[in-house]
Amino acid sequence: MSGNEQKYGKFQEEPAVDLSRIVDPLCSWYDVRKRDLPWRRDREPYHIWVSEIMLQQTRVEAVKPFYERFLRELPTVNDLAVCGEERLMKLWEGLGYYSRVRNMQAAARQIMEEQGGIFPDNKEELLKLKGIGAYTAGAIASIAFGEPVAAVDGNVLRVITRLEMDARDIMKQSVRTEFDRRITRALRKKCAAGASSPSAFNQGMMDLGAGVCLPNAAPLCEECPLSSFCQAHANGVETDYPKKKGAKPRRIENRTVLLIRDGERILIRKREKKGLLAGLWEFPNPEGHLDRDEAVSYAAGLGLEPVRIRELAPARHIFSHIEWHMTGYEIRVASFGEEAEQPYVLIDTEQVRREYAIPTAFSAYYNWLAKHGANADADV
Ligand code: ADE
Repeated sequence: MSGNEQKYGKFQEEPAVDLSRIVDPLCSWYDVRKRDLPWRRDREPYHIWVSEIMLQQTRVEAVKPFYERFLRELPTVNDLAVCGEERLMKLWEGLGYYSRVRNMQAAARQIMEEQGGIFPDNKEELLKLKGIGAYTAGAIASIAFGEPVAAVDGNVLRVITRLEMDARDIMKQSVRTEFDRRITRALRKKCAAGASSPSAFNQGMMDLGAGVCLPNAAPLCEECPLSSFCQAHANGVETDYPKKKGAKPRRIENRTVLLIRDGERILIRKREKKGLLAGLWEFPNPEGHLDRDEAVSYAAGLGLEPVRIRELAPARHIFSHIEWHMTGYEIRVASFGEEAEQPYVLIDTEQVRREYAIPTAFSAYYNWLAKHGANADADV
């Protein structure tokens, strides 16, 4: 029987390690090493919330400009609650996972309508808001209000499973719930009186995970304030943890993206109200990898008269559960003639970039279009 089986065998429900030992060293490290980030300049819960939702899907450096612009345009919870859909989607364009911002707006409306515009100040109440789960509620409650509660994300799972050489599957909710409970207990014990704070601890975990206890590269253990507690480090097996047994492979979908245009306008369409990228705008993208003849027939099937076609470079986009493998064509039509029927619209090629929220999944084709203005020549 391995050490882990003994430690986590059926006679013992959870490891006996007291996580309160890591609270002070991590908080002291954070006080000195913390990154200077825009959402750390104040403790406004709305600001923390916006940043946390954005950071669930995008890297810190990429989030910064989105965060600044979002708060410039929608500086209060009420501004978010009343924002029009197209404008909201445009503000989120490039971040992906649009359902997150729709949920944020639903939660902003809950705050305005049910809480008199007052932001809930504890994890339990925050959990009642649409789209706010245990991680986000813990992050807002600890960072904005100093509540001693955990915020268990991938960083925390990685750090703790390495500290304890915990081989359990981190995709399991029961493992996450247990870490949440043990960290919360440790924070209650250590933060009541002294220098350590739940905010510093949780953000310290984020910075440790991002810069030291790295996910996809050798961790920088010599810089880690917790290395003396770390069993994986003592055994030289840091990168063996965490284990992700339950991770399912993503489904692969082949699609053909069609930039169908005349000299001035391009055809786009609105996606269905439900499902992946719901309600956003897209270039037509039939399923499968069409060859030239099939792509021309597809355009003809829309009642158009293709005159030229040019093959574009393939591209990929990774969603959480699906991967799109795309090929593409630019299809020139002599003239579109009349207006298109719903869900299609014809718009000025320049306007796509200014006014329509086109998901990042199409960015390779969107960028190609930006480079190849209305009058650029296509191959015959
Ligand atoms: N990742 C998630 N939340 C974060 C935060 N508040 N600061 C830095 N990185 C984060």
